[in-house]
Formats: sequence, structure tokens, C-alpha cells
Amino acid sequence: MAAKIIDGKAIAAEVNEETRRRVEALRAAGRIPGLAVVLVGDDPASQVYVNAKAKKCAELGIHSDKRVLPADATMEQVLELIGELNRDPRIDGILVQSPPPPQIDEEKVIAAIDPARDVDCFSERNVGKLLIGKEDGFRPCTPWGVMLLLEKSGIDPAGKHAVVIGRSNIVGKPMAALLMQKAKGANATVTVVHSGTPDIARFTRDADILIAAIGKPEFVRGDMIKPGAAVIDVGINRTPNPAGGRDRLVGDVKFDEAVEVAGAVTPVPGGVGPMTIAVLMSNAVTACERRK
Ligand code: GUN
Repeated sequence: MAAKIIDGKAIAAEVNEETRRRVEALRAAGRIPGLAVVLVGDDPASQVYVNAKAKKCAELGIHSDKRVLPADATMEQVLELIGELNRDPRIDGILVQSPPPPQIDEEKVIAAIDPARDVDCFSERNVGKLLIGKEDGFRPCTPWGVMLLLEKSGIDPAGKHAVVIGRSNIVGKPMAALLMQKAKGANATVTVVHSGTPDIARFTRDADILIAAIGKPEFVRGDMIKPGAAVIDVGINRTPNPAGGRDRLVGDVKFDEAVEVAGAVTPVPGGVGPMTIAVLMSNAVTACERRK
């Protein structure tokens, strides 16, 4: 039986609608939420993401301030810009697109962002709050987007075995932290597998909820999926199109195979991607609502 396709675009549109209402309420009170998006260098994929974020801000009535520094920018230049944005009263949230060029120490840049404006939830303080389960930090954009996809698709992680493939700071680690929280919509038993795990399939075949965030095109094959499982594909991989023309976007899951085995599956594109941006917008508005 073919799996249910989880429509990330439609669920993101619901989240965005709620964000738009919150923006209207702020505007009625004379406040305009503002998000600064910083891009260092000219990586084409990062340019696409940054432009998509600025476009969504415009759609929702959020002020956006896109700052692009050259690929050879120094740490001093980046830190000076962060300092300026931290002090700017029009800016509630600051995001530095990852990954930066090699001369930029990303950890130091993240540490320079005012934690109250760290809408990515990348800072040590906000990651700590997330792990503890405190709600006065921020929700990490992609992992929280996955939690919303599950909730709005009627998939309750409570008591289920969730397997996360990948241990990145942006997705795998915060994903595991959210799923294991003793909280409504979470409470899963969580396994994290990664590049150091022998026989990954041994674990994935036992997953009721399988989250693929490993960054390898079509890594998860049909025979690695438990029949009826919910499969969430976080991967966005550009691969050459065999038919020529523009590169193809493929996920970390071989979709055609997954759809035959899983109970529910997200497509790429149109699954997790739109949710990441929707949560980011929501976080920027939260930052504005919290500021006195
Ligand atoms: N690069 C890939 N995903 C993200 C994200 O959510 N935020 C930022 N800042 N960079 C990213």
C-alpha cells in the first residue's frame, strides 16, 4: 500500500498564516518584527536559502535586512556586523547562514549573537535550554519543523521508537533532544545513528519514526524501513540530472522505494524545507513579542 505523502507546503502555509496574524497584532501595536539574514560568501545553495528567507519575510510583513559579506571577509568584519545588528532596534532576530567560508570560526560568530536574537537556536545558551526543556529559548528551525509535521499529520511520537540518522548540531542533535523530551508531542524512545554506526539498517528497520538527516542522496532504501513507519526526509541534495538541464533535488531517502513500504513519508522538495522557513519566521516574531 502506498504511503501517505506528508504535504510540508500545506502545513507550512498553516504555520505562516498564524505568524501573519501575530505580525498584524504587533503592527497594530506599532511594532514591526525584523530579521537580519547574514550571508558570508557566494555559495549558490546558501544564496537560494537566504533569498527564500527574505522573500518569506516580505510575504508575512516582517522587516528583513539581508547582509552579504564577500567570501574573503575577515572574522573582524563578521563580528563587527553582528555587533551592529545586535544594537539595531529594528532587528529582533539574527541568522548567519551556515556553513560560512573556512576562515570564519562559526562557533565564535554564533557566540557573538545576542541570545535573545538567536532565532536559529544555535547558541550554547539556547541549545542548553532546549536540552533541559525550557521554553524561553527558541525552537530550532528544522527539528521543530519536523515535530510540527508529525503533530499535524496525527503522528504522536509518545512511546514510539524514533531513529535519527545524523548527528549534526543543526539537525540530528536537536532533533533527538526534542523527540526525547517528557512533553506532549514528544516522549519517544530515541536512537541516533551516524557515520560511526556499523550496520545502520539494523536500527532503521526498527524505527516507527525515521528521520533522515545524513546529507547523502537516497541513502535510505526501501529495505531499511519498517512497514508502516513515518519517514521524514531532511536531506536536500543537488545531483546532476541524468536527462540533462538543471540539477535534481533529492532527499536522503529513496522516495520511490519508501513510498511502497512506509505509512507516511515527506517528499523533497515540499516536505521539511518549507517548515524550516516557517519556524524561522515564527521565531523572529516570538523574539519581537518578547522584547519590551
Ligand atoms: N544552513 C542549513 N540550515 C540552516 C539553518 O537552519 N540556519 C542557518 N543559519 N543556516 C543553515
